[in-house]
Amino acid sequence: MPHKVFLSRLKLSDFRNYAALSLDLDARHVVLTGDNGAGKTNLMEAVSLLSPGRGLRRAAYADVARVRADTGFSVFAELDGMDGPVEIGTGTAGAEEGQARRLRINGTTAKSVDELLDHLRVLWLTPAMDGLFTGGSSDRRRFLDRLVLSLDPEHGRRATDYERAMRSRNKLLSEGRADPVWLTGLERQMAELGISMALARQEMLGLLAALVDKNHEGGVFPVADLALSGFLDGEWHRPAFDLEEQYLEMMKNGRYRDASAGRTLDGPHRSDLLIRHRTKNMEAERCSTGEQKALLVGLVLAHARLVANMTGHAPVLLLDEIAAHLDEGRRSDLFDLVDDLGGQAFMTGTDQSMFSALGARARYLTVANGTVSG
Ligand SMILES: Nc1ncnc2c1ncn2[C@@H]1O[C@H](COP(=O)(O)OP(=O)(O)O)[C@@H](O)[C@H]1O
Ligand SMILES: [Mg+2]
Repeated sequence: MPHKVFLSRLKLSDFRNYAALSLDLDARHVVLTGDNGAGKTNLMEAVSLLSPGRGLRRAAYADVARVRADTGFSVFAELDGMDGPVEIGTGTAGAEEGQARRLRINGTTAKSVDELLDHLRVLWLTPAMDGLFTGGSSDRRRFLDRLVLSLDPEHGRRATDYERAMRSRNKLLSEGRADPVWLTGLERQMAELGISMALARQEMLGLLAALVDKNHEGGVFPVADLALSGFLDGEWHRPAFDLEEQYLEMMKNGRYRDASAGRTLDGPHRSDLLIRHRTKNMEAERCSTGEQKALLVGLVLAHARLVANMTGHAPVLLLDEIAAHLDEGRRSDLFDLVDDLGGQAFMTGTDQSMFSALGARARYLTVANGTVSG
């Protein structure tokens, strides 16, 4: 049994509705209850900033900084991490729009936010994700890429570099008199990055499928079958080199079309994640709201288990408003699954009694108006 990754201290300043908060925690799960608007999701959001990206709300940092404080925000955490005890601090220096966040790990400025992945993985499920199946494909791609990133820290860099090369290609095509050598250079970059990005997605889906076939969450939550479509469909058994050549050819042949469309129409940035309810054999988007919620919970738990298996450390899980949609039996099964993962989970709800099945496995905190007690 690997040692458990958990936050032992969390300090916030000028973070959303928290002027200052200092919270000592232990290895138990954390249950946060309180009225609407108390600051439960805000606290989860702070923890989510211990992973690369803009956190579970994908907010602009200027919005995260507390209103009326004209400083930036800061989040500081001490944890027993994947690589031993570590102190992580992140935040912004001022409240101006558009700035990046700083990151310090053990007092040293980190070169990249991806360094966070050496210490912990944070996964979340929030009510905002309820529309995942019915919404646009970009949300599903982002969801998918976060799943991949938590297994493969290189994925974020690849995706950013791919996007950058694509923007340059689009710009060159829009200018109408593109230098063919330059254009081919960009397309070659896109082919390499794009194919490795797509292969990383395929690999993650393969691993996840193998894991859910053992049907763990399936006893409680429905199993989701996942597939990708929209880019080189049916070709993924071929060697990476062939796929790169094919994608390169597609881009070359698509230059005229892409120039008039104003964007690149072929590529992994156009893939969609197809999700099916296995036992009902039905697309997730056609399932009922309750079925969709259960599918999503099962999916996130399966992914958390995959991360635990692959890294040897369970992720920190943020489950916002998780208990609301589940009946008592399912809730208690959920808590058992979460606890079995072996990591620290943060859960929120309006009513503490909904968490009674967790018993002594959790610490119970009450949130009110940007303060935490209990
Ligand atoms: N930048 C900010 N500065 C101050 N308060 C904020 C900021 N952003 C959000 N809030 C406040 O935080 C509260 C919402 O907190 P939230 O954590 O979402 O509540 P809940 O406990 O329902 O999850 C709202 O009252 C909102 O006005
Ligand atoms: Mg909330």
